[in-house]
Amino acid sequence: MNILFIGDIVAKSGRQVVARMIQELQEEYEIEFIIANGENATHGKGISRANYDELIECGIDCITLGNHYGARKEIFNFIDDCDNLLRPYNLHYSIPGLGTTVLETFSGKKIRVTNLLGRAFINLNANNPFEALKEIIQEDQADIHIVDFHAEATGEKLALAYAFDGKIGALLGTHTHVQTRDHRLLPNGTAYISDVGMCGPYNGILGAGKEEVITRTWTGLSTTFTIEDDDQSLFNAVILSFDNNNRCIAIKPIYKILTIEV
Ligand SMILES: [Fe+2]
Repeated sequence: MNILFIGDIVAKSGRQVVARMIQELQEEYEIEFIIANGENATHGKGISRANYDELIECGIDCITLGNHYGARKEIFNFIDDCDNLLRPYNLHYSIPGLGTTVLETFSGKKIRVTNLLGRAFINLNANNPFEALKEIIQEDQADIHIVDFHAEATGEKLALAYAFDGKIGALLGTHTHVQTRDHRLLPNGTAYISDVGMCGPYNGILGAGKEEVITRTWTGLSTTFTIEDDDQSLFNAVILSFDNNNRCIAIKPIYKILTIEV
């Protein structure tokens, strides 16, 4: 069976390309379950209720978040009503929302999805992701466990993946918006990629407008990031294939550039 994991969806351009590609990939790969990182789905930062509903209607089964989980305060009004919208598990326990959940596919497979946040170069007070994952897997009864590790540093991502190799189905990196070419099955069977990449404006800088990013990076001047106005949209994802024993047998990256209406 195949699971599709879609990289960080950025703004309208990302949502448009995701809707198109889900239809195409479902026909080609018979996908049974879809996970997407949606922390930038609403104008590049956070996720609104309307955009959450839109992505679920596209066929996404579970949406994960990251360091921008709370960028739009309205999320705190609806995240507790959604069992398929995850904020990072290793945040303070009092923060609304789930960090891990088990959802069932149409064939009855139980898929656990966990969202974790890295600590290297991420300015949020997250708890130790190793201890968090150890705690989650202790009583896990799910058939397959997919972890979205939303983190900046490739070393931190690979360390967490090797530490839990064979104990989870896949550890997939998100957050950097650049798809890496290091996808592989680790020795004990866990699928891994340092970063799945992003879906959204292809000609921006990680989805944001070039001018503001260049100015901020060049001069140090504080700028407000906008979304690049672009009729080319990037679609980055991976397809994970599992055998009848729920072991991952392949991880295939998808990297496509599509023309969209802006
Ligand atoms: Fe992020």
